Amino acid sequence: MARREVDTLRIAHLSDLHLPLTQSAPVWSLMGKRALGWFNLKMLRGNTHRLDVFLALLADLAEQSPDVVVITGDLVNLAYDFEFAEVARLLEEAGLDPARCVLVPGNHDRYTAGADRGAAFEKGMSDWLPPGLARRDGYPWLRKLGPICVLALDSAVWRGPARAAGRLADGQLERLAGLLDGLDDSCHPVLAMHHPPIRLRGPALRDYRAGLSGFEGLFRVLGRRPATVLHGHLHRIGRSRRGAVEILGAPSASNDCGRSEDQAAYHLLTFSSRGLLSAQARRFWPGRVEVQDLPDEALLR
Ligand SMILES: [Fe+2]
Ligand SMILES: [Fe+2]
Repeated sequence: MARREVDTLRIAHLSDLHLPLTQSAPVWSLMGKRALGWFNLKMLRGNTHRLDVFLALLADLAEQSPDVVVITGDLVNLAYDFEFAEVARLLEEAGLDPARCVLVPGNHDRYTAGADRGAAFEKGMSDWLPPGLARRDGYPWLRKLGPICVLALDSAVWRGPARAAGRLADGQLERLAGLLDGLDDSCHPVLAMHHPPIRLRGPALRDYRAGLSGFEGLFRVLGRRPATVLHGHLHRIGRSRRGAVEILGAPSASNDCGRSEDQAAYHLLTFSSRGLLSAQARRFWPGRVEVQDLPDEALLR
């Protein structure tokens, strides 16, 4: 990736890789939540998430040569070690530089209690994360890159079957407040997290199953400070504002579903120290790339 010695910086934001399994899952391991997940993957999700789509997206991303790549979680499906190894290999083969990437975990990266407790994401992606990153107390971590500071938050936590909700724990918000206090005005904060900090539309049960608890605390910490939040999780383009905070959601980077708002894409975002200057989606259809400015508002369903 080319480094730009100017006061703007380009971020490529992608999310929810959900790479199809390239190995058979061990039968003994397919119990409980993983059994449900495996069925979902093979019978439902596996039909639309495609490796060739993700590889086309990665090749295009490398060609665009952004300054920074932010990946907001759900790199894998069932949190097997071999899945993380595969993602790490593909990122490396695409020529991405770990020092200019920011990765955060999604709920699928902490799919089982064991994967969560054992920090499968932090171990499997260790070459792409700060050295020795601790599962509990290591977040948020900060990477200062020219006019912006990326703050990597962990909203992912293991939940029981049929639940994909996230949580921002109080300790993490306290540490975030400390990091923000240490930033001066020459640095625009960009928060990377998996779950969107919004109340999900629809019945309350939906928020219980897939939303993010503790997100009001995030806005209390940010106060009136301008900031940008990058998230994934809903597999759809989202763009909204809350006060001085802009919230941008990227769709899945591998989803070949045929619907424009959900089709595989990544976002190219140009920042200065004052905030976001421009936002573009690069969307991947079979055999072609569609480039489009992000709409000023795209409400998540
Ligand atoms: Fe996802
Ligand atoms: Fe997710």
